[in-house]
Amino acid sequence: MKKSILLSVLSLAVFVTDTLAQNTLKEATKGKFLMGVAINTRQHDGSNPVEEAIIANQFSAIVPENCMKSGEIQVEEGKFNFEDADRFVAFGEKNNLTMTGHCLVWHSQLPRWFTVGPDGKLASPELLKARMKTHINTVVKRYKGKLKGWDVVNEAFEDNGTYRNSAFYRILGEEFIPLAFQYAHEADPNIELYYNDYNMYKASKCDGVIEMVKKLKARGIRIDAVGMQGHMVMGSPTVEEMEASIVKLGAAGVKVMITEWDISILPRENNRTSANLSDNMGYAQSMDPYRNGVPAEAMTQWNKRMTDMFSLFLKHADVIDRVTVWGLGDATTWLNNFPVRGRMDYPMLYDRQMKPKAVIQQMIDLAKKAK
Ligand code: XIL
Repeated sequence: MKKSILLSVLSLAVFVTDTLAQNTLKEATKGKFLMGVAINTRQHDGSNPVEEAIIANQFSAIVPENCMKSGEIQVEEGKFNFEDADRFVAFGEKNNLTMTGHCLVWHSQLPRWFTVGPDGKLASPELLKARMKTHINTVVKRYKGKLKGWDVVNEAFEDNGTYRNSAFYRILGEEFIPLAFQYAHEADPNIELYYNDYNMYKASKCDGVIEMVKKLKARGIRIDAVGMQGHMVMGSPTVEEMEASIVKLGAAGVKVMITEWDISILPRENNRTSANLSDNMGYAQSMDPYRNGVPAEAMTQWNKRMTDMFSLFLKHADVIDRVTVWGLGDATTWLNNFPVRGRMDYPMLYDRQMKPKAVIQQMIDLAKKAK
């Protein structure tokens, strides 16, 4: 008798655990796209078991929020520091999570030495090429066979579709992009290679990127996907703008990834969605209205915007390979400090106490219903 009670309790526990495990974004999006999250170093160093468990249970993919950027990995020329990046990869392996490296060539969080020559002026094309090659080679080879893909070049275009006048561009012209992709491919012929940018919903920017993608493809240079970062505000972009770009990119023969999705609930001057790190503004209390919480009406609107966008991603799951939210909980989102320092934003799926927001269940239900 006792034994049979024990058995039924055990099987009930197994049933509940299984049901809970299935009621996750990871399970609901299976076969549609990878459901990813950007994680910070405190979420893979063992100091935060609750957050680590959420990441492992709820998501199928991870990307490092900062620790694989050149400014972290090669602060001084030739001195590589892989401590955090190694931990990130070990965490992903332990939990069977698909990993993306972020990012190899980017004008931000770039150590100064990278593009400066011995005379203190811009490095010569040869010097920059050699540095790019060494950096890409060393980093990509280290994680060969462990990551699924790399954001090879990040944010190389302006919103109007022209090339950003970064140091890379000033030294090498548009050729820095194919070179970066080539170096990455040589370092690991099996790894997927991505271009990643913000404001990809803007037609002019998307068209500029598509032109570049076509040039790469015409030269036989590998590019697998374009990442649309997906940093959004309440008033911008529209679902239609996002959809037009997703469709155009798909038609250009690349997969699409929503790589850095977050919807800020705070006011933003002119609804600007730029994610360029230098585009920051001074603090004003009027721009920080929710220090004591978000009123129900505003929360409902944010929720609807999240589910409208997520429905769009599900509709285009045939071209979208991965949807990644840029952070886990509201307490640590970068949007508390961008584009204004010290605000209180609420863009994440988990609140400041790491409690799941209602939107998660709604997203799960939408994903389960989607064909
Ligand atoms: C952000 C991180 O979230 C912050 O922690 C860091 O201080 C600055 O960079 N586009 C990108 C990301 O590609 O790497 C940026 O991440 C946000 C904009």
